[in-house]
Amino acid sequence: MMQPEQQRRAYLEAMGIDIWLPRDAEETADSGREQAPSYGLDWPELRDCVANCTRCELSASRTNTVFGVGNPEADWLIVGEAPGAEEDRRGEPFVGRAGQLLDHMLLAIGQSRESVFIANILKCRPPNNRDPKPSEAAACRDYLERQIELIQPRIILAVGKIAAQNLLGSDDPVGRMRGRPHELNGIPLVVTYHPAYLLRSPSQKHKSWSDLCLATKLAAEFSA
Ligand code: URA
Repeated sequence: MMQPEQQRRAYLEAMGIDIWLPRDAEETADSGREQAPSYGLDWPELRDCVANCTRCELSASRTNTVFGVGNPEADWLIVGEAPGAEEDRRGEPFVGRAGQLLDHMLLAIGQSRESVFIANILKCRPPNNRDPKPSEAAACRDYLERQIELIQPRIILAVGKIAAQNLLGSDDPVGRMRGRPHELNGIPLVVTYHPAYLLRSPSQKHKSWSDLCLATKLAAEFSA
């Protein structure tokens, strides 16, 4: 009989989804390398761990950590880039104009800020809204990985270049990654444009709509 992981991979292959694994995934599974610091934490423990994190220099300049918002048992996990000034002040992701557009995008697919879970690649705000440094993304990565393990979403929606490139370990532009299924840790993943980009380029909204439709279809097909 197939193990659940094998079954999931067979299912993803049948759906035509590229299976992406970190280069050292097999090594990690076999060699008993050091466990991630958030290994085995439950949701409240993970939240505490993030709130007290000093793994990178952003801890010195943040007002609040931004753990994420929504349903910890959501079918949909939305991943953005990093908190901005308002998110840092309020400790909640996507609260500005881009957040309002994200709310409308969710509404269009019958979801809401409460029904999905929204997180970012970084839990702390980079000063002056600069891009996350690779070292910061690496320091924060296992928090998001543990959130994914605990939530077990049916679909991950990566919004924007930073989220997509970090999650998929790719340098491709969003235009090349969007519009087709990917996979992360056995879960279907779809890339789409960041709502802040869509505010600047509304003519691209129809492409995001088609990405949302693809994500809806994959979520329905995927039995987590
Ligand atoms: N942009 C993001 O990517 N994340 C936020 O939380 C806010 C704006």
